[in-house]
Order: sequence, then C-alpha cells, then structure tokens
Amino acid sequence: MLYVEINGIGFHNPLILASGILDESGDTMKRIASLGAGGLVTKSVGIKERQGYPNPVIYELPNGMGLLNAIGLANPGIDSFEEEIHLALDSGVPVIGSIFGADEEEFAYLAKKMEEYGVNAVELNLSCPHAKGYGMEIGVDPDLVESIVKEVKGRVNIPVWAKLTPNTHRIVEIAKSAENADALVLINTVKGMVIDVDARMPVLSNGFGGLSGPCIKPIGVRAVYEVSSEVDVPVIGVGGITTGKDVLEYIMAGAMAVEIGTAIYLRGIDVFRKIEKELKDWLLKNEIKSITELVGVAQRR
Ligand SMILES: Cc1cc2nc3c(=O)[nH]c(=O)nc-3n(C[C@H](O)[C@H](O)[C@H](O)COP(=O)(O)O)c2cc1C
Repeated sequence: MLYVEINGIGFHNPLILASGILDESGDTMKRIASLGAGGLVTKSVGIKERQGYPNPVIYELPNGMGLLNAIGLANPGIDSFEEEIHLALDSGVPVIGSIFGADEEEFAYLAKKMEEYGVNAVELNLSCPHAKGYGMEIGVDPDLVESIVKEVKGRVNIPVWAKLTPNTHRIVEIAKSAENADALVLINTVKGMVIDVDARMPVLSNGFGGLSGPCIKPIGVRAVYEVSSEVDVPVIGVGGITTGKDVLEYIMAGAMAVEIGTAIYLRGIDVFRKIEKELKDWLLKNEIKSITELVGVAQRR
C-alpha cells in the first residue's frame, strides 16, 4: 500500500528522514529506521570537518510553527563518515548520502566517496540558506546547478538527487537546469530571521537562518506542484510535513515520496510510525490500494 520505487530503489514507505535532523550518526539513523522511516538521508557532509556557527544556532518558533536554524553546515568531513554510512546501511532501508561542496569538482569528489561507502543514492545540497559560498549561493545560479549535476552524473553510477532552494522566484528554471538529475528534492529551508526585542538583536548568532516546520508547508507544496507539472523528473517533497494528511498534500501536488525533519522535534522520534499509520488509515478509508495512484492528482489538467 505504501511501497514506492524511485530510480529503481524500493522504499517500504515513502517517508524518508530529511538531511540534518538526527542523521550525523549511524546509530541514530538506524534507530529512526527501526521506528518506521522508509529511507534515510544523511547530514550534509563536506570535504573537511566544519564546526559551524557559535550558539545560538537553533530557535523554536511559538505555537508549533517550526524552527529557525543556522547550524552553518557543521559536519565531521567525508573521511570520518564511512563508519556512519555502514551503520546506517545495517538498518536495511535505503541510505542517501547528502553532500555539499563549493564547486563541481568538490561535489563530484564527495559523490564518488559516498558511492564507495555504499550509499544507494547521493543528494546534492544546492540549497542551504546560511553558509557562505555553499548551498543556496550556488543553487540560485541555473548554469552552476546544471554543471554540478552534469559533473556528478558523469562520475558516479548511483542515482543523483538535487535538493533545491525555495529562496528564488526562478524555481522552475532552476529545476529545469537540474533535469539531468535522477530526482529533484524540494524544498530546503526558507531564509528568515527572528529578533529578540529585549536584547534588540537577532536570536541566532548568524542573524538570519532557515525556517522549517509547518510554517513552510504551503511553500513546499507549491514548489512541488509547480516543478512537477513542468519537469519530467521524479520529485521528492519536503517542508513542514507533520501528519499523514501533510504527506498526502505533497503526493497529490506531484511528489513520489517525502522527507521529514522538524516533525521529529514536534511529535517525537517515533513520528514516522505515527505518520505511517495516519496514511494507512486514510488510504483504507478512501479505498486506495497504492499511494502511487495519488501522485499528482491535484494538478490541473
Ligand atoms: C536543524 C536542521 C539542520 C538541517 N541541516 C540540513 C543539511 O545539512 N542539509 C540539507 O540539505 N538540509 C538540511 N536541513 C533542511 C531539511 O533537510 C529540510 O529540507 C527542511 O528542514 C524542511 O523540512 P522539515 O520542515 O520537515 O524540517 C536542516 C534542517 C534543520 C531544521
């Protein structure tokens, strides 16, 4: 009922752990898989270890709206990540290695390493909104996106997923420039800021950060809808998914699967099980045999 296949990779359900949330360690990734996730995306890893920004790097918005974060791509570096990948692969669900680099060569090098470590696919982080010289700074340039995807595709044999930023008015154009990818992942966090009025300064050390959680869901659903109606590449939806109905919104907008991050903070580490049950209950009630029947049904024809 919930089984999906993307680029020939089978997922027992379409609920994949999003990059950056409890996925810097193989053990926590294994735990999330044992609690129902259909797949795992790792923390984005670069060439060298990075400490990221000083605290505070994360702020919880009121009323369950979500989080604002500027971690600054803190990560252990690719060379010390092999063991974590092996542990994550022990879980038995597909593992997608997320990477970030400054140019084509760095992305290609990291993708090759991930392939050697045994991941099922790589996800190119072309979309982090708060790390200078990386992520979104690259991901808003269609020519650069095109050449990074092309270079990585030429160097690895595993599927290449491109994760795009919503922080642009040219999302369809950028998605088209990434058409060589095997899947497009939409969206990364939305650039935002919160001010502490008593301190008269931004709450995060970096000033601005990336918004995630329920407050960004309509932006993600719109991005998936727009891109999947224009681009003939499988789309994976991400942004604000907290319930089974949120997953259905993304699927009906055109996503084949989804990634889930902030909901772990909001509903607990077993959120994948909870969402899986909500989805199954809805499908049963509506006499739908396979969730794949619903992909893109909300798109105007
Ligand atoms: C604390 C935190 C760290 C994140 N780190 C990464 C990262 O390393 N790479 C990446 O591609 N996305 C990263 N993201 C973005 C998420 O993968 C996801 O695209 C975004 O949070 C929207 O989904 P959500 O609302 O389900 O969290 C991070 C998000 C959060 C909240």
